[in-house]
Amino acid sequence: MNFYLIKAAYLCNMSIYDSNKIFMTEVVVTEDGSPTLWIEEYSEPYHSLHGAVQEAMHVFIHTGLGSIASARQTIHILEVGFGTGLNALLTWDYAQLHKLPVSYTGTDPFLPPPSLLKGLNYPVYCRSPYAEQAYAKILSSFDGSRVIKIDELFSLQVIQEDFRKISYPDESYDCVFFDAFRPEIVPELWEKQAMQFLYNALSRGGILVTYSTKGQVRRNLSACGFLVEKVPGPPGKREITLARK
Ligand SMILES: C[S@@+](CC[C@H](N)C(=O)[O-])C[C@H]1O[C@@H](n2cnc3c(N)ncnc32)[C@H](O)[C@@H]1O
Repeated sequence: MNFYLIKAAYLCNMSIYDSNKIFMTEVVVTEDGSPTLWIEEYSEPYHSLHGAVQEAMHVFIHTGLGSIASARQTIHILEVGFGTGLNALLTWDYAQLHKLPVSYTGTDPFLPPPSLLKGLNYPVYCRSPYAEQAYAKILSSFDGSRVIKIDELFSLQVIQEDFRKISYPDESYDCVFFDAFRPEIVPELWEKQAMQFLYNALSRGGILVTYSTKGQVRRNLSACGFLVEKVPGPPGKREITLARK
């Protein structure tokens, strides 16, 4: 596999921490040239090493947003595992291009430090010339759970909490981006009970997209009431999961 670790001074190792956990993190460059974070504790990247931006665009923007965007007014998105905010940034860029109003909620108990994320340079992967300002605003939302306006079309709330501990209004989201670490690493986040929160939070006809196609995950989704299908994945991954309420 063609990726390498960057240990240059400006992209140095950092730790992501809360009172209970410390994750040592490095920046790695993936095969499409876009960077991602590497969590040493799990020996695991935040995105596919075949291409971080390529994966995010395929799974969450084209498959997720692309499946619901045409029929909606304001689109309500819930992301599990907000991490770097890459999916929110790419969604913002898509919303700009298609003039879609979006309300985006991200959950993550272990947000990486904004000073590390700035060095990832993710705005260069957007079409909008205003992406740098948008990403700066996304990162500024990390200090507190307030709703901020990125611009007139896009509002964002990042909740620094385990997604299973948040009480969501019933049937309020159109789409869930499920982007937790792999079920082999954190199986508890993929259990039926966890998925049931998300099923209840989705509106009728709403969808959940995730990169994992593990059999147990699909069975857990089905047991909640989702109609589950496998759809084509990004390069390096044959299929991904699309679940409909
Ligand atoms: C694969 S990485 C996410 C990548 C992220 N979507 C991005 O584009 O950068 C998984 C993320 O899930 C977060 N996470 C771990 N436990 C979580 C939980 N209980 N609820 C929500 N997020 C969680 C991790 O902190 C990490 O940021």
